[in-house]
Amino acid sequence: MPTPETQPHTNRAFYDRISHVYDWLSDSNEGPARRAGLEALQVQPGETVLELGFGTGNEILELAEKVGATGTVAGIDVSEGMRTVTQKKLDERKPAATVQLTVGDARHLPYPDAHFDAVYTSFTLELFAQEDIPVVLAEVWRVLKPGGRLGVVSMATVKTGQHTSTLENTYIWMHRHFPHIVDCQPIDTEGVVSAAGFRILTVQEREIWTMPVRVVVGTK
Ligand SMILES: C[S@@+](CC[C@H](N)C(=O)[O-])C[C@H]1O[C@@H](n2cnc3c(N)ncnc32)[C@H](O)[C@@H]1O
Repeated sequence: MPTPETQPHTNRAFYDRISHVYDWLSDSNEGPARRAGLEALQVQPGETVLELGFGTGNEILELAEKVGATGTVAGIDVSEGMRTVTQKKLDERKPAATVQLTVGDARHLPYPDAHFDAVYTSFTLELFAQEDIPVVLAEVWRVLKPGGRLGVVSMATVKTGQHTSTLENTYIWMHRHFPHIVDCQPIDTEGVVSAAGFRILTVQEREIWTMPVRVVVGTK
């Protein structure tokens, strides 16, 4: 199994470097889709939830608000820099929920079986190599309780019959030829979630600069 350092798609050093400017780079474009994903997941007070690839922690804070004082939020991210930025926000905001951040690889989740009510991830699943996406989703399946929900927000492939997006094609081409510059590629979000065994509950189609983005919720 390659480590994050040897796999360009999960380049820890890259995310460490950009952690302090990541909000500035991504918030205005990706924020609305992330928030749509959180809403679709319908997190309830008292739940135990996990975020994969929490980045600068904006959704960790939102999840903490939603689960409240009786709930728990766990987050795992491969980047120590992202953890530092997120921890600073938590120290400032001091949410009532229990929050546990872990630096680690989403392909090997350090949590027990059937532990979480819900798992959320945004703009992270598409960073993994095609063969690693089922590995990550099998881990999500393992740590979710029966009936637990998975919410995924990702750049998505164009569905048959839809107009192709020039930006999507550019991303795919750049990812194939320059994976160290463009570390992600659009995925068939609904397809990979359903192939991992989840029953699809909701699918929303969105766009960022003509690039398809999908918000998918499935249940175990
Ligand atoms: C594109 S950012 C998205 C961050 C955040 N979810 C958002 O929507 O803004 C991808 C995040 O996934 C993390 N990541 C990359 N590879 C990972 C891995 N193998 N395991 C866990 N996290 C990983 C990166 O460090 C980064 O914080």
